[in-house]
Amino acid sequence: MKKSARICVLSFLVLFLAVLSASAQDGERLYMTKFCITCHGQKGISIDPNYPNLAKQNELYLIHQMKDINEKKRANKLTLLMTEHPVVTGISDEEIAAIAAHLTKITPLKSH
Ligand code: HEC
Repeated sequence: MKKSARICVLSFLVLFLAVLSASAQDGERLYMTKFCITCHGQKGISIDPNYPNLAKQNELYLIHQMKDINEKKRANKLTLLMTEHPVVTGISDEEIAAIAAHLTKITPLKSH
């Protein structure tokens, strides 16, 4: 392989890894900055028995539930805590996907 081709392959690899690690970090950061942590707990174990634990939940299920909640397809007294929250309702599909990917990976500290 030519030297320039090797450099090209290497730089693609570095870029690929950078994108991978950036998206992994984003989910964790978003979970904090979008206030999810205040109700669903630092490690995805909720702070109140009325709130669902999210740690290790199936990724696709989390995405569907968050979208349903944001689109107000899911509604009861408790869902209001999310649908009336100005930051939570403003999150994008990309942010939802990043948070869901983070939640499926974290190891809970304890469970109820
Ligand atoms: C003010 C408290 C609060 C905040 C902040 C909050 N949630 Fe929730 N969340 C709840 C409650 C309460 C429910 C249960 C709602 C219901 O019963 O319909 C819930 C439900 C969920 C569900 C559905 C779980 C299931 O098992 O069906 C997901 C997923 C979720 N929240 C993710 C998030 C994410 C991601 C954020 C941050 C962007 C967030 N929540 C912020 C209180 C909160």
